[in-house]
Amino acid sequence: MKINSVVIGAGIGAKHVDALNSVSNTRVIAICEKDNIKRNYLKKKYKKIQIISNHKDIFSLKKKINLISIASYDSDHFKQIKILSKICKNFIVEKPMVTTPKELKELRKIVKKKKLKIFSNLALREVRMFQYLKKKIIKNQIYNIDADYLWGRVQKLFGWRLKEKNYSLTLGASIHMIDIVNWLIDELPVSIFTKGNKIVTKKSKFKKFSFLTHLLQYKNGLIVKITANAGAVHPHFHNIKIFEKNKTFISNLNNQLLISKSRNKFKIKKLNLPYPDKKNRKKLIQFYVNSLKKKKAISPTFNYLCNLMQICFSADQSLKIKKEIKIKYFR
Ligand SMILES: NC(=O)c1ccc[n+]([C@@H]2O[C@H](COP(=O)([O-])OP(=O)(O)OC[C@H]3O[C@@H](n4cnc5c(N)ncnc54)[C@H](O)[C@@H]3O)[C@@H](O)[C@H]2O)c1
Repeated sequence: MKINSVVIGAGIGAKHVDALNSVSNTRVIAICEKDNIKRNYLKKKYKKIQIISNHKDIFSLKKKINLISIASYDSDHFKQIKILSKICKNFIVEKPMVTTPKELKELRKIVKKKKLKIFSNLALREVRMFQYLKKKIIKNQIYNIDADYLWGRVQKLFGWRLKEKNYSLTLGASIHMIDIVNWLIDELPVSIFTKGNKIVTKKSKFKKFSFLTHLLQYKNGLIVKITANAGAVHPHFHNIKIFEKNKTFISNLNNQLLISKSRNKFKIKKLNLPYPDKKNRKKLIQFYVNSLKKKKAISPTFNYLCNLMQICFSADQSLKIKKEIKIKYFR
């Protein structure tokens, strides 16, 4: 099976173009980009790819394409899947897949009716440091995980994100760490409690929370603390600490350490695992495309993606009502 695709949005979407073009029998035949300056640049860079300006132009490519990759602004994701599901069944959609519970409900109906195959780019899963952890941890011995999304790019809040009615730092940042923890331990949290502040962005036009802390509780009692830190004076980084009964793993800007204890003495081993491992991150899109070609099951599943959205919506609801929320899942 040959895959011909269109990518919408050429920010992170440029990475989708690279990832798609790196798979055999797969090519990007068009890029849809609404910014005129970027379009001129794209025309020079990709001589063999058609450059279009509006997602409605994709209808004219209907007979040529069988995959659409959406990397536009958050609030466009659902609208574009909805309208383009008239001509295509396979979608890659950047996180967050949707921005409201109402959109999620409607999307589930469309996916069922039209048998869409949707995949979301949770690319941190392909970072080899996280893959090492997934192999090494003993799930039922973990009692605490701390994971921080240190964005270090506060200026990003003042671009298109400022204008998005339903933008939240949970949907923009925490979602990655929530997903990585769920994926590491193969579980979903039972409840979530969120607190936040706006101290760093108080004098800016960004009126939403720019720092969030989430407390997640899992079925066996495990407690996870996740922060989304837009204003951190810190390089873009994903800190993680995993505390197990008999060992501790810590990764931060300085070190990756595996700590254990033997005969009452600490053994501190320095690790050198690939992180941020950006080149490897395109593998998730490559796996999706190969699963489509071989008609194999897609991972992460659409149901998981919906449940990830449920966790994020519960987090934002908790922030609003200042209470812990029991998360309702789709079965
Ligand atoms: N998975 C990740 O790690 C990751 C990283 C960054 C961004 N994202 C997500 O990707 C999406 C885009 O973010 P970004 O950082 O690339 O933003 P960006 O501003 O860098 O790039 C977005 C591009 O899309 C274009 N665009 C927007 N809406 C469009 C539309 N309707 N039609 C055509 N072109 C359109 C813009 O002109 C811009 O060039 C967001 O949903 C964001 O949450 C995901």
